[in-house]
Amino acid sequence: MPFTIAIDGPAASGKGTIARALAHHFGFAHLDTGLLYRAVGAKGGDPVAAARSLTPDDLARDDLRSARAGQAASRVAAIPEVRAALVEFQRRFARSEPGAVLDGRDIGTVICPDAELKLYVTANDEIRARRRAKELGADEAQMLRELRERDARDVARAVAPMRPAPDAVLLDTSEMSIDDAVTRAITCAKEAGA
Ligand code: DC
Repeated sequence: MPFTIAIDGPAASGKGTIARALAHHFGFAHLDTGLLYRAVGAKGGDPVAAARSLTPDDLARDDLRSARAGQAASRVAAIPEVRAALVEFQRRFARSEPGAVLDGRDIGTVICPDAELKLYVTANDEIRARRRAKELGADEAQMLRELRERDARDVARAVAPMRPAPDAVLLDTSEMSIDDAVTRAITCAKEAGA
């Protein structure tokens, strides 16, 4: 039986870095599910058709990391048919041997409710804005507005809103170094049987 780790949380909380580090540590496959929604948003045209016909080339575009692509992703992610079109791919990925780490907004709640470990990674929004602004070379105040707008939309949508699963381990990285956060996550995974 493959071991699945579900990691959710808001933008720039550190969940992507933690997911990559866990996958590397345990030799698991890693899927950044935000990239799927970013690719759908970036494709343009009808988002439902885009989600149904997503290809590896769509995921390899180099403009997917921008704040603009993040906003477009958050908008198309509120469309139930877009989400439905991406479920099977994510669930199949989650069954990768010997294990998989998926990070996103609804992994522990909707995509993999039976994951062996669920983490919900947060950090205060000013700290997240500072981290992301540094990473993208963008203005911090503008990044804060952008993150708040995106979080509000991701929390409020009717289908698969961003929220911790009832049995998720909460990890607040506001005051933590990335090394500490990764160490904590690895400990949690070992305790869960990874
Ligand atoms: O993780 P990210 O910042 O790359 O995600 C971009 C947007 O995609 C995010 O604002 C909401 C959406 N998303 C989602 O709705 N569900 C996921 N599992 C992952 C991302």
